[in-house]
Amino acid sequence: MITDTPAAKLLLVDDLRENLVALQALVRGDGREVFCAHSGEEALSLLLEHEFALAILDVQMPGMNGFELAELMRGTERTRRIPIVFVSAAGREMNYAFRGYETGAVDFLHKPLDPQTVRSKANVFVDLFRQRQALEHAQEELQRAVRMRDDFMGLVSHELRNPLNTLYLQVQVRKRLLASGKLPEPPALVQMAERDERQVRSMIRLLDDMLDVTRLRTGRLGMEPAPMDLAQMLHSLVEAMGEQAKAASTPLELDAPPHLALTADEFRIEQVVTNLLTNALRYGGGGPVRVSLATEGAHAVVSVKDQGPGIAPQDQERIFGQFERAEATSAVPGLGLGLFISRQIAQAHGGSLTVRSEPGAGAEFLLRLPLDAPA
Ligand SMILES: Nc1ncnc2c1ncn2[C@@H]1O[C@H](COP(=O)(O)OP(=O)(O)O)[C@@H](O)[C@H]1O
Ligand SMILES: [Mg+2]
Repeated sequence: MITDTPAAKLLLVDDLRENLVALQALVRGDGREVFCAHSGEEALSLLLEHEFALAILDVQMPGMNGFELAELMRGTERTRRIPIVFVSAAGREMNYAFRGYETGAVDFLHKPLDPQTVRSKANVFVDLFRQRQALEHAQEELQRAVRMRDDFMGLVSHELRNPLNTLYLQVQVRKRLLASGKLPEPPALVQMAERDERQVRSMIRLLDDMLDVTRLRTGRLGMEPAPMDLAQMLHSLVEAMGEQAKAASTPLELDAPPHLALTADEFRIEQVVTNLLTNALRYGGGGPVRVSLATEGAHAVVSVKDQGPGIAPQDQERIFGQFERAEATSAVPGLGLGLFISRQIAQAHGGSLTVRSEPGAGAEFLLRLPLDAPA
């Protein structure tokens, strides 16, 4: 049984204190909480307060008797499914005295009580309660998964729509130009092609991220570590991103030695740094972005630092989760997968990906990779 499940609550109702004490001793157990009521009225107030796995009701009580209490329980949504065991001194023909309690399980115990029977009946109903709890839990999980899928489809559609719309508009413009016989000059054509390329790239990146998440979940995001030069990779990556940085009018600078050799999956590490740089350009508020490479003990440390609004303390860990994004940046579209994938890649290399940020003073992401390949 799961240890942190809440206690199964049992309700005992009897007007005689000594009966309650005796019953309580019989049904007590680990993971159970026993409540006693001396009258139907007292039982009702407990029923409103707690969710019971089982109610054991004395039939003969002054005032509201056990059957009347059961009748009231049946008529109330909150209590109608609680199984009831009646305790009666009368003969077994009393079994038929209470009719119509179709919904809840009903059972009878006869006085004098046989301890073994009382215990096993209580066990059966507590087990049933536990099973129902487990079922409800599974159902909630399922509903959550369905909700997540729906949210996800909405997000993806939205993310794909923007670049597709832009492409569509550009195609329209070109069709008109062609129809009017006014063909643009080659430099303008090159520019158009570059814009198209950016839109297509962003869609490919989005789909790649989604594929990576699926691969991570199914354990198929294999790493292929090989000797590589991390410094050189950074030099060419920063140069390649120069165009994008200029488009965002963000100064981008690199502080790295000419060479740093280690063993890693170059393609995947490039993916991580690209993610960090793209984020710095998107969320860094246009201020300068600085990439640096240094060694720290047995690790190479890549830092990507911006001077944007930074990340609130309560978001600093959360943003590494699947689909998690900071509230402050919700105006910028994104799926919230980049950091999740990047951290998994860093960890698969025996390294780490962390963030340091003081809100208002920018964010610094640190990728640590072991200089000696992990065994
Ligand atoms: N440099 C940064 N400055 C501020 N916030 C950032 C930065 N990088 C990432 N974030 C926050 O982390 C979130 C998750 O980033 P990421 O996993 O790359 O997904 P996405 O970029 O698709 O939102 C972003 O939505 C943003 O809120
Ligand atoms: Mg991102």
